[in-house]
Amino acid sequence: MLSLQQFQEVVKNHFENTNLDKEPKNLYTPISYILELGGKRIRPVLTLLSTAVFDGDYKQALPAATAIEVFHNFSLIHDDIMDDAPLRRGKPTVHEKWNINTGILSGDAMLILAYQYFENYKPEIFQKLAKLFSKTALEVCEGQQYDVDFETRTDVTISDYLKMIEYKTAVLLGAAVKMGAIVAETSEENENLIYDFGLNLGIAFQLQDDYLDAFGNPENFGKQVGGDIIENKKTYLFLKAMEFANANDKQQLSHLFSIQLADNAEKIEAAKKIFVESGASEATKKAIANYTLKAFETLEKMAIDDEKKAILKAFGENLMGRNV
Ligand code: IPE
Ligand code: MN
Ligand code: MN
Repeated sequence: MLSLQQFQEVVKNHFENTNLDKEPKNLYTPISYILELGGKRIRPVLTLLSTAVFDGDYKQALPAATAIEVFHNFSLIHDDIMDDAPLRRGKPTVHEKWNINTGILSGDAMLILAYQYFENYKPEIFQKLAKLFSKTALEVCEGQQYDVDFETRTDVTISDYLKMIEYKTAVLLGAAVKMGAIVAETSEENENLIYDFGLNLGIAFQLQDDYLDAFGNPENFGKQVGGDIIENKKTYLFLKAMEFANANDKQQLSHLFSIQLADNAEKIEAAKKIFVESGASEATKKAIANYTLKAFETLEKMAIDDEKKAILKAFGENLMGRNV
């Protein structure tokens, strides 16, 4: 089996050699733009890894891996419109560089393009992949709707939040690895175990995303730091701070998160201070480690070589240690 680095290289080269540009330019150029900005390519690497772990040919997994990455990038274009985000991967978001209508339509085209990649598979595999994909994509929409609904709600619980991130983010990592398993034509038990692995890794990943949104380094984070605070997102950091902070800070925080300010810098500083002093940022770090460990426990239940488990584990550890 290839090393983790080699899989990353395969995926990188694959996307460098994928050209989706055609007429009309105003539809396809934004698609190439977002895909060429790169990103971590976590999901396609997971798909390839999973196929190889279950003794399949990773090359066979490339169309499914591409579908997942194209879908993910579609969801980012629409998400950036919804979150009013100016920056993605260190560059202007699609709706900032072009306009909102471009973001909507290029995004729509990417969703269809993603589906088309499944046409590369024989009917039994096609059906399983398409079925999983449709279920997952709907869940992502549900998660996104909860995320938006929570901006204006004041009664969001930790369990509401966990459900929301499971849907908006984690199910796609679960699907990425499950698709790899489907392509490898392994047992249903393996499909489900690896899905669980991806799901828990995905929850850890989104918790980390929320942590970095507040505490990432603006020099290399690639997104607007504090974007979640500006948008009143009810993240784990916020919810834990509301649980742990003293009465004064609690009142200040809930006030800050019920308004939209002209000067965001002050709001961001005030919120981050409470996140740290209340212990919410520590609690978030612990939760990230816990969900990563939970993912690793699932690996132990899988009947695969230790060498293969080690590669999946290394992948999880890299994710947990990331700062972008
Ligand atoms: C994005 O969630 C989830 C989807 C695109 C489906 P976030 O809004 O929290 O992610 P970032 O911070 O913009 O990447
Ligand atoms: Mn966003
Ligand atoms: Mn969002």
